[in-house]
Amino acid sequence: MNRVPGAVAAIAFLLAAFSADAVELDNARAEKLAKGNATAKVSMEFVLKQARRIKDPKVRTAVLAILANPAPTFMSRYPDTASKEAIRSRLVEEGLLAAMVTSTDLFPPLESPEKSPLSFLAAPGGTPDHHHDYPGGLAEHTAFNLQSAMDLEKNYKVRYGVTLDPDLVIAAPILHDAWKAWVFQYSKDGSQPKQATLAGTGAHHPFGVAESIFRGLPAELVVAQAAAHDPPGIAPEIVIGYLRAAALLAGVDPVAKGYLARAENGSWSLAKLPSVEGTVNHLSDHDYVITDPAGKEVADCLERLIRAEAAARKAGLEMPTVRWARTRIKTQVPHMRIYAELRAGGDPAVKALLASKKIPLLDTADGPVLAGAPATP
Ligand SMILES: [Fe+2]
Ligand SMILES: [Fe+2]
Repeated sequence: MNRVPGAVAAIAFLLAAFSADAVELDNARAEKLAKGNATAKVSMEFVLKQARRIKDPKVRTAVLAILANPAPTFMSRYPDTASKEAIRSRLVEEGLLAAMVTSTDLFPPLESPEKSPLSFLAAPGGTPDHHHDYPGGLAEHTAFNLQSAMDLEKNYKVRYGVTLDPDLVIAAPILHDAWKAWVFQYSKDGSQPKQATLAGTGAHHPFGVAESIFRGLPAELVVAQAAAHDPPGIAPEIVIGYLRAAALLAGVDPVAKGYLARAENGSWSLAKLPSVEGTVNHLSDHDYVITDPAGKEVADCLERLIRAEAAARKAGLEMPTVRWARTRIKTQVPHMRIYAELRAGGDPAVKALLASKKIPLLDTADGPVLAGAPATP
């Protein structure tokens, strides 16, 4: 790994973290809420149990270290504004980043490249009002995906007699979204800073691939991880873009490393035929096709119920209180459980579900309730 001295990097990152345009964060609140998320804790145990089954000691050690602390260590290459600006310009030159995206837009706040801003357990699995958008959501999303990948592994064996590499089946789904713990931090008002688009997708994805490259993980795993958002057999050019962006961020030659090949005319291709394991990683990440729209419906439903509760108390609510109340509720009952109830019986059924679990719609810890203020419809 090509690293700058630790003390210098730490000082530079601290200065950046307290710059004038730094977002006011409250990740500690997410950590506290995650401790009460029983579903996420069970999910985390499942993910850890599978990670311990990885046979390759280097991969197993790296995956367990990332679960313990999903730190973007490749950011040690970018300790100051000048180095961040240089890589931003390079990504723009290569057609992988829109010119309007600033380095502050691209790189989320980070105090140290050695420590993740959020723990894996406390990180959300998606953007606000989308899938798994609450502390513990990443663990739940990852556990679901990992189970899907293992089920697909069995299916390929039973139906086609194809034996997959179990290390890739386990490691790729665990790694692919882990850097949401850096990208989806919590602001004090319960919102989250906007994620930049890099190589045509949410930056967490190429960032994660860059991290696997930087940590020296095997080429087969790096390429399988890169396939999470798009199928390498059908859309190789998109997966190639992720690998090119990730290799630039990690400071390696993707051809020399065995990820990509390049023809004399400059065109890129995958170094090897797409792997089944990469495709399994891609397929296993598809819970979002229901959890994403469900996340929006649940967010809207909870806001209606929370505001109705405030109205019944003849009180008004600011949006931060609504956001934190919704977030708290989703750490106490999975958003898909709420969605199932919403489909079956609408808002009254969701209200009854929460009441049966003794989950209040409004809690004093959520934020100020404006006594006497007109209720917002
Ligand atoms: Fe992702
Ligand atoms: Fe995902």
